Amino acid sequence: MSTTLIQRISKEFADRFHKKPSLFVAPGRINLIGEHIDYNEGFVMPAAIDKHFVLAMTPSGNEKCNIYAHDFEEGVSFSIHDLNPGEEWINFLMGVLDAFGRRGLLRGGVDCVLGSNIPPGAGMSSSAALCCGFGYGINEIFDLHLDRLSLAKIAQYAEHEYAGVNCGIMDQYASLFGEKDSALLLDCRNYSHEVLPFRFASHNVLLIDTRVKHSLASTAYNERRKSCEEGLEIVMAGNPAVTSLRDVSRTMLYELQDQLGEDRFIKCMFVVEEIDRVQKAARLLKKKDILSFGELMYQTHWGLSQAYDVSCEELDFLVMLAEEDKEVVVGSRMMGGGFGGCTINLVRPGQEESFKEKVRLKYFTTFKKEPGFYLVRLSEGVHELVSEISKPKS
Ligand code: GLA
Repeated sequence: MSTTLIQRISKEFADRFHKKPSLFVAPGRINLIGEHIDYNEGFVMPAAIDKHFVLAMTPSGNEKCNIYAHDFEEGVSFSIHDLNPGEEWINFLMGVLDAFGRRGLLRGGVDCVLGSNIPPGAGMSSSAALCCGFGYGINEIFDLHLDRLSLAKIAQYAEHEYAGVNCGIMDQYASLFGEKDSALLLDCRNYSHEVLPFRFASHNVLLIDTRVKHSLASTAYNERRKSCEEGLEIVMAGNPAVTSLRDVSRTMLYELQDQLGEDRFIKCMFVVEEIDRVQKAARLLKKKDILSFGELMYQTHWGLSQAYDVSCEELDFLVMLAEEDKEVVVGSRMMGGGFGGCTINLVRPGQEESFKEKVRLKYFTTFKKEPGFYLVRLSEGVHELVSEISKPKS
């Protein structure tokens, strides 16, 4: 955990508000495998990471929210009765407040200073971390007793209604439920999870940032989701037991291939296969078979690229570089919604620097820009810092 970030946020809060705040840490996430699956009620395998937001918060004592974003050196004040979306980061917070309001749980405004060491736009879900941390903080400082799943749904609401992204629950769930040195096998049908220890002395998690952000990513995301929903409707018409793509088999899709049409058939087939892959990957992880696990990551990548069509030239290039060195990079794939952001790579320790050097050179030669590199550790989910000792999870 970044103690300097915590110190900076605490100091900024003390200077601005002259009182002692509660401090909350809210991590971003990675996803080992299971992409574009959460909104199809399948299984995914995310984890919280050691890159996070820190939020210092207290009730303001009236209806005003006074919020200062340390990273943008920008402050804003507004009433909880006047949630008019403005800039992106403020929208997310307003979305969270709105969600509490809709549950009849908005007790007053907050004073808040926040800052983060999550690289923005890299696909580590900094917006989910922000919403989860802010919601968790409100829940604590006003003693509202909501559980973590409700807080994940509140954060997801903010993303849907105030950012226009019809996302699943994976990012919010991972940020709130993450555990140190572990991934979560999250069942997105019933919102439960199994903790999978992920501590391989033999491999590190290296994210490589393409530094590409597609401006139409959220539109494309919503379109993919729509293709799945339309495909599902067609399957459901003839199969009353089916309620999501989770219940669908390859055979069913082949039988309905003509009715589905090429695009929906291909997208739904990817989802059905990816749900299978995640379950297989979980079994491999339990057996500590990291080489076969990594192979599935590569398969996921090419499925996302060629069938689901959410990759981009830069992501494919990075995965191809990894594939050239499979004994060093046992698994690699694009991570998250797609169209830019990072690849996630499982790399043999001691080999990171030479692999990074090769990638840096080849990526620069081809795309004329430097990629970003982040070695991440799997970490605890959102928590309050109490005299540097975190409270047990409620
Ligand atoms: C984004 C969304 C998630 C999930 C991933 C793709 O990160 O926020 O809900 O759908 O894309 O797996």
